[in-house]
Amino acid sequence: MKRDVAIVGAGYVGMPLARVFANAGKSVVLIDVDAGVVEGINRGESHIGDVPSGELKRLVDDGRVAATTDYDALEDADAILVALPTPLSSQREPDLSIVRAAVEDIAKRLRKGQLVVLESTTYPGTTRECLQPILESTGLKAGDDFHLAFSPERVDPGRTDWTTHNTPKLVGGLTPACTERAAELYRSAVETVVPVSSPEAAELTKLLENIFRAVNIALVNELAQLCERMDLDVWEIVEAAETKPFGFMSFKPGPGLGGHCIPIDPFYLTWKAREYDFYTEFIELAGKVNANMPYFCRSLISQALNHGAQKSLKGSRVLVLGVSYKADIDDVRESPAEKIIGLLNKAGAEVAYHDPHVAEFDGMRSVDYAPEEYDCVVIVTAHSAIDYDDLVERAQIVVDFRNATGRNGTGHAKVWKL
Ligand SMILES: NC(=O)c1ccc[n+]([C@@H]2O[C@H](COP(=O)([O-])OP(=O)(O)OC[C@H]3O[C@@H](n4cnc5c(N)ncnc54)[C@H](O)[C@@H]3O)[C@@H](O)[C@H]2O)c1
Repeated sequence: MKRDVAIVGAGYVGMPLARVFANAGKSVVLIDVDAGVVEGINRGESHIGDVPSGELKRLVDDGRVAATTDYDALEDADAILVALPTPLSSQREPDLSIVRAAVEDIAKRLRKGQLVVLESTTYPGTTRECLQPILESTGLKAGDDFHLAFSPERVDPGRTDWTTHNTPKLVGGLTPACTERAAELYRSAVETVVPVSSPEAAELTKLLENIFRAVNIALVNELAQLCERMDLDVWEIVEAAETKPFGFMSFKPGPGLGGHCIPIDPFYLTWKAREYDFYTEFIELAGKVNANMPYFCRSLISQALNHGAQKSLKGSRVLVLGVSYKADIDDVRESPAEKIIGLLNKAGAEVAYHDPHVAEFDGMRSVDYAPEEYDCVVIVTAHSAIDYDDLVERAQIVVDFRNATGRNGTGHAKVWKL
């Protein structure tokens, strides 16, 4: 069946993309290796919070969205968008194996006139150095026989003010014609399209955005550690700085980086920069400070138990509250909770967790919410479903890494804040 758009990878990026194109009247096919995900989509059941099942069901029933595990569906598509994971290897180097394998499958079906766009976050040069040769091994030429571009996804899962539809979309094609073809497609479904001069410019822009966050979070995390020594409240200082109407952008400290982007993407650039005899020192330094946060947090929990209950971590019952990497979502990828729970277990604590969004995590199941039953409750992720005043009332000790207890927690005898 003829489709306007095929999206390879039906995850946090692919699903919202399918939604905006389908809502713009395009017919979309999602291709994913996970048969369970594919069957769910075809029943109109969404596994991604940003795409409500009711809306998906309507789009599936209208014939505008379908999913399959079969790459042959690509043959009938005008445009092929690739939204696949780009993780790091165990040596913290870019691992493009998933993207490469998928592009090889695309190449087998590539035909004249198609547009291929990579959406996955990656180092500058990926589209030209990795995708182009695989796709041209077919004998077709990029820019002449088919179009090739990079257009980074900027979705922030769980966010409702800025979505795939209204967040400006960068597009960098291999040739001006590639840029124009990709821009034209996105213009049909998203509010603003921003063309840039090349795929490399678009690839590096996406990395700059994520590195900017990683570095600024590290800065405020370092300040939080200094504030602890100086007996100052880092939350008060950040809030006070926020009152400056210009020249300051607020970042909050926390127990460490999480998610599929900020802890990973900057190292794609570090790796690529080495090819140019260049060391990306801000990225390395930010990585070091942020990676240390779970260790710093363990020592805060230990101090809270020492001073608040004359207990050691060993043998104490600790409830970790919130394990997803950020509030009000179920995504646990790279969540700092995993590191913190590991460190607490290693120190001999008895650890349980409660998370209204995550039923299973790290070989454990979310326990009932009964803060009074633990020596200490540690807020790792501040879901809005929890009543934090009630928590402070009921818990014996609260260690708050997110300022979830707010003014009530400040100076409270039971509450230790980052
Ligand atoms: N999640 C975010 O917030 C976000 C934001 C911006 C950019 N990105 C980037 O977008 C890319 C995709 O991320 P995501 O969060 O959507 O990933 P994801 O893990 O949510 O989804 C990827 C999907 O691809 C499928 N898949 C894996 N291998 C496949 C293959 N060979 N063929 C077909 N399907 C396959 C998986 O089953 C999964 O459903 C990454 O590069 C990421 O860095 C993510």
